Amino acid sequence: MIIAIDGPAASGKGTIARQIAAAYGLHHLDTGLLYRAVAKALLDAGHSPDDPARAAEAATMLDPERFDENALKSQSVTDAASVVAAIPEVRQALINYQREFATKPPGAVLDGRDIGTVIAPGADVKIFVVASPEVRASRRTLEMRSRGEMVDEKEVLADLLRRDARDSRRTAAPLKAAPDAHLLDTTHLGIDAAFRAAVDIIEAVRAGRKRR
Ligand code: CDP
Repeated sequence: MIIAIDGPAASGKGTIARQIAAAYGLHHLDTGLLYRAVAKALLDAGHSPDDPARAAEAATMLDPERFDENALKSQSVTDAASVVAAIPEVRQALINYQREFATKPPGAVLDGRDIGTVIAPGADVKIFVVASPEVRASRRTLEMRSRGEMVDEKEVLADLLRRDARDSRRTAAPLKAAPDAHLLDTTHLGIDAAFRAAVDIIEAVRAGRKRR
């Protein structure tokens, strides 16, 4: 079973994806980490994140087994990630890894922006997770503060909106719901309720398949 979970920044897709993978015994890939790792490689080498040749080269050299998740979550990497993610050569260089991951037995949950549309258009279940910008900013602020970062919620909101705009307007695999994706609005849902809503969607899709 392949489950595609897409959505804008801090919508809750990562938490849902992790919990769904654990509940169903599937592999989980947070595909945002791939773009973040490309961005970090460029920043560490002193290059600009909008350099297509260097970004594509960094993408082909990635070793996802060695990711340091904490270092990939910093604000500078986050911002640069959405810049490298708009470069078609970068996306192309990362497609095979993601598709192979998705087909590893017994199946996988992938979360990102283009899983249901580009990486796994044939996924068994597609969920598009949304939440209001204010709620997303408040969740991301708490998350960053729990990592010891001093952040201002208004700035976090501005960053989310800037990234959403960049991710939605780009021509290469823009952030958008696949036509057959199920919308899950987590604005008024806590972590448990969001997880249960996702399970309900998955079970409804599976039940529908069996009936056919
Ligand atoms: O956790 P958050 O939703 O804030 O970010 P993320 O999922 O780690 O993604 C970071 C950036 O990578 C996004 O702003 C996108 O530009 C890019 N990304 C993408 O283009 N395609 C994906 N499948 C995943 C992430």
